[in-house]
Amino acid sequence: MNNDSIDRFIRVNELNKYTFEEIKDYINIQQMISLKSTIYLNKQSFENLKTNTLKLTIKRLTAENGIFNIKLVFLATNGEFILRYWDDSSYVIVNEDVRGIYTIDCASNSFVYIGKHTTSNGTHMICMDSEVQIGDDCMFSDGILIQATDQHGVVDIKKKQIINKHRRCIEIQNHVWLARNCTVISDVTIGEGSIVSLGAVVVKNVPKRSIVAGIPAKVVKQDMTWSRFRKNFDNYSKKIIDIYGERDFD
Ligand SMILES: CC(C)(COP(=O)(O)OP(=O)(O)OC[C@H]1O[C@@H](n2cnc3c(N)ncnc32)[C@H](O)[C@@H]1OP(=O)(O)O)[C@@H](O)C(=O)NCCC(=O)NCCS
Repeated sequence: MNNDSIDRFIRVNELNKYTFEEIKDYINIQQMISLKSTIYLNKQSFENLKTNTLKLTIKRLTAENGIFNIKLVFLATNGEFILRYWDDSSYVIVNEDVRGIYTIDCASNSFVYIGKHTTSNGTHMICMDSEVQIGDDCMFSDGILIQATDQHGVVDIKKKQIINKHRRCIEIQNHVWLARNCTVISDVTIGEGSIVSLGAVVVKNVPKRSIVAGIPAKVVKQDMTWSRFRKNFDNYSKKIIDIYGERDFD
């Protein structure tokens, strides 16, 4: 990811840049992670880190020589974020008003983007030479696994080849609900407005505005979306109904 492609997601020149040294009292940094690493914050995320409404922990996985140059844009509002690094080649962007509980493991030039207003009660993302793009206003339950790499080689014996070397990309578009304990693997796109049911394992693309369920996840309903409120529409579902609904609101 070069600076031009990062600009598609966020304008870093409008943010405040700090070294870990400058904010080390407000984040939890494990040993052997260089305090010269930089982080971009906005006014709100800086304030929330200071007041402990927002918690950020940076950990080292098996990087024996230490971690020197983390690239991180962190504009979350509240919650607990644990970032774990095998090396420092990845770029992570957490956009404005992202809330909740996330653990993100990174290595080998991965790129992770979490869009505005997305929430999570417990998401673990594993990225190794992977790209994970999450849209705005998604809602992730707990027990969510985004496995964006196989982490180990799958060997075709006859062809004498490793068959899963490619960079893996997962795109979760705006306003997607991942229900409790579901898993997303493989190169998939989950379309805008869709729901992944409890316990599902997504291995193929999910069309927009549909519900998928089961292992492997299959479409069980179409022309459906969801609302954060159980008895009322939220703004995003209103927007979707406005465009695709067949009659006026009740
Ligand atoms: C996504 C969800 C809300 C959809 O509910 P719904 O629209 O009422 O779906 P239905 O119960 O009508 O089910 C539609 C079909 O999918 C199947 N199905 C629903 N959920 C399923 C699941 N988790 N796994 C497997 N199949 C499932 C149903 O058996 C039904 O199949 P059928 O048409 O053959 O009878 C629901 O499936 C779900 O996952 N609920 C849990 C939400 C959750 O995790 N909340 C925690 C807080 S985020």
